[in-house]
Amino acid sequence: MAAPRTTGRHAPLNGEGAIARGKRAAALAAAELLQDGMRVGLGTGSTVAFLLPAIAARQLRGLRCVATSPQTASAALALGLAIESLDELGELDIAIDGADQVDPEGWLVKGGGGAHTREKIVASAAASFVVIVSAEKLVARLAPPVPLELLAFGVQRTLSQLAPARLRGGVVSPDGGLIADYLGPVEQPRELAARLSATPGLIEHGLFAPELTRTIVIGDDDGVEVRAGGAPAA
Ligand code: 5RP
Repeated sequence: MAAPRTTGRHAPLNGEGAIARGKRAAALAAAELLQDGMRVGLGTGSTVAFLLPAIAARQLRGLRCVATSPQTASAALALGLAIESLDELGELDIAIDGADQVDPEGWLVKGGGGAHTREKIVASAAASFVVIVSAEKLVARLAPPVPLELLAFGVQRTLSQLAPARLRGGVVSPDGGLIADYLGPVEQPRELAARLSATPGLIEHGLFAPELTRTIVIGDDDGVEVRAGGAPAA
């Protein structure tokens, strides 16, 4: 990985081009973390779309990957990466994924692509979970929407328990769960995460606690900054 910048300052990313460049920079830096023979969790989204060709280009030997969505699986397979199920791989050496928001404590909001349940399972199976984001994903405070995956049975009852929340118009997860968004305040993420998790009918929410993440790679036009997440060092 290129030498990281150590300041917390970032150039403002205005416009799609700059945001895409930030995502690409973070993804390319994270691809350098992989080594021959690793078992790798692949996230979902446009930042991961930059990661997959960067991994393939390294031509590592014996890489074994699990994908968090059908889109990632197809893109990875087309690039010649070996995709297996998480149960075949068991423990992962590393998982790399994007995020929608990152707060100063390392809390994440994920699930913009509706794959956060698989993404959380894969992140928690990895010895090292690496988050790759463009700099505009850094926020002073988390804000709604927080993605939710809900069981279809009794979904209106579940939504009333999670209020304010609404279904995301027919969007389903890779595993058939209904994707919804929690729209209320996110002042205390840990308390909100506990409340969401305790609601019957909720499959998973998109709040990822800091202790899940080992490293956050932030890209912008100046390069990348690498921050420690809240996971204990290996
Ligand atoms: C998908 C996710 C994505 O990682 C998140 O939405 C970020 O997406 P992108 O890289 O396209 O900005 O959580 O469920």
